[in-house]
Amino acid sequence: MYLEEKFESLQSIYTQLINDIDFDKPSFSIAIYFIIFNPTFWNIVARLEYHTHFLSNFTGSARSGCYTLAGTIFLLGLCRDVYFKKALADQPTSPILDDDMITVTGRFCVIIGQVLVATSMWKLGITGTYLGDYFGILMDEIVTDFPFNVSSNPMYQGSTLTFIGYTLLEGKAAGLLLSFMVYSMYYFALKFEEPFTAMIYAKRDEERANRKKKAT
Ligand SMILES: *[C@@H]1O[C@H](CO)[C@@H](O)[C@H](O)[C@H]1NC(C)=O
Ligand SMILES: *[C@@H]1O[C@H](CO)[C@@H](O)[C@H](O)[C@H]1NC(C)=O
Repeated sequence: MYLEEKFESLQSIYTQLINDIDFDKPSFSIAIYFIIFNPTFWNIVARLEYHTHFLSNFTGSARSGCYTLAGTIFLLGLCRDVYFKKALADQPTSPILDDDMITVTGRFCVIIGQVLVATSMWKLGITGTYLGDYFGILMDEIVTDFPFNVSSNPMYQGSTLTFIGYTLLEGKAAGLLLSFMVYSMYYFALKFEEPFTAMIYAKRDEERANRKKKAT
């Protein structure tokens, strides 16, 4: 096949997928709302906590503050997942995605995604998973074994993979767009979170070094 023809067939797939999305369904908009709102919310609250300690103060301790935020993020995540599912249920099936190979790929993505999310949560614990560092609850050292040796951010990558997998299982074009939004939000969240977390740990290491100096 000539390159031009390949490009045209790719373009027709793309056009077809877009045509298979029903943008008017309210569940689609609500899913988008949660996808955008959730990471924005937890980043704003975590930064506020870091600078003012308002949650630790309100709940009485850093640990209770972190658990409160963890519970809230978990519930918001549940809402997002429920609406993602509902949004897909309200959409027409895309003929291009209605294929056995795609269903198998989808199942595979969901399994890999869930393994990444579950194992990283297991390794990090609740405070490690849910922004404990902003509350001054730091990990003793960086976790480097599985799943962190196969994925730079298993929580976000696993979550994205799960959404893609579910989309392929259901064969709904709208899910591809929603999954891409999930991916984009995590991408921006990481740009915002990673330097800040690095700063928190750098500060801790500096303090540790100073304490050692004083002790000797
Ligand atoms: C909360 O803030 C008040 C007033 O700033 C302060 O007196 C109190 O010690 C704080 N409580 C905690 C648990 O940090
Ligand atoms: C990742 O670490 C696990 C142990 O936690 C090990 O069994 C596995 O082989 C490692 N994988 C890679 C790709 O290094």
